[in-house]
Amino acid sequence: MISKYYVKKLEKKKDHLSILWKDNFESKFHFMWLRDNCPTAIHPTANMRVFNILTVSKNIFPKKYKIEKNKLNIDWSEGNHTSKFNLKWLRDHCYTEINKRKYKSPYVFWDHKLKKNLKKIIIDHNSVIINDKHLSKWLNLLHTYGFALIKNAPTRKKSAFKILNRISHHRETFFGTPFEVINISKPNNTAYTADALRNHTDLPYFEYAPGYQFLHCLVNEANGGLSSVVDGFAVANYLKKNEKDIFNILTKTHVKFKDTDYTQKAVRILHSPIITITKDNDFNDIRFSMAAMGAVDVDPKKMKKFYDAYQYFASLLQNKKFKIDFRLEAGDIFCFNNRRVLHGRTEFDPNSGNRHLQGYYIERDEIIGRLNYFNNIKV
Ligand SMILES: [Fe+2]
Repeated sequence: MISKYYVKKLEKKKDHLSILWKDNFESKFHFMWLRDNCPTAIHPTANMRVFNILTVSKNIFPKKYKIEKNKLNIDWSEGNHTSKFNLKWLRDHCYTEINKRKYKSPYVFWDHKLKKNLKKIIIDHNSVIINDKHLSKWLNLLHTYGFALIKNAPTRKKSAFKILNRISHHRETFFGTPFEVINISKPNNTAYTADALRNHTDLPYFEYAPGYQFLHCLVNEANGGLSSVVDGFAVANYLKKNEKDIFNILTKTHVKFKDTDYTQKAVRILHSPIITITKDNDFNDIRFSMAAMGAVDVDPKKMKKFYDAYQYFASLLQNKKFKIDFRLEAGDIFCFNNRRVLHGRTEFDPNSGNRHLQGYYIERDEIIGRLNYFNNIKV
């Protein structure tokens, strides 16, 4: 065992045990945390906590405690209970250390320059189907770049379920799965026209907008209809660094998104900032769709500044410095983090040839959960 797992000194303090490890790192383990994490508190197969925290008082403390071999043994003041902790487990879960670690973002920001290196984010369909390493690479690209392009997929309808199910199950919505991106008469969504679509995220009016979107190109023979893609986190990061006031407005102003699709008996309304951030001050998600904006109802004192910020952000999302235009080919699956990366298209001429994409949604949890599994992350 490496030295950081050996104990040099063990002391009982007012509300915690203090361990000085052989590498001179000092950990605090609070009494209640230790009791709650007793190895017997975890179900052996379900791997879930069975211990009920209400069965002990907040004054519980170690009556006796000692290090024996590779274990910390504690006799508790209540419940006639002994806990035996593996020292390696304790050090690996040391929250003194975890809280001292500097947060490292998993995201790689990108802009128009990625187009020259598009190979970086391209993966072959069959290699993902048959090989876990390629699957893991795909997941990693999705998580870090938020964008990947699968090539050489079959062009049968609904055939993208196969590669999607290599990850997990899909996210269902009122559009159905897959949803058909094709121009129809009397469209209930602008995606179902031949019009240009400005860069946007899908379904921003859902409290929990779909994490990823996969657009499977079955045929693309029409003139026009170039796809566009932009890293919303990279643009938000540009604002954070260069336009602090605008960034603050977009992270703090709750904007109204809405959907009143005539085919549904539902009126969907959600207020959310356009950019949200995580507890680690990283980017959480981007919600942006001019098409799905409601009549904004922010305080009149803040309206002018909001519109200035919103318009500026919109201009950057269409800016050549940030976006990539590319043409989807039959057998491509355009995969992106729908809560980070915005997508759009130029208008196309439906009389010049067929253009048919099928869309699927899948949650971010599924991508990250599988990636953690492949990376052997322990909890
Ligand atoms: Fe869309």
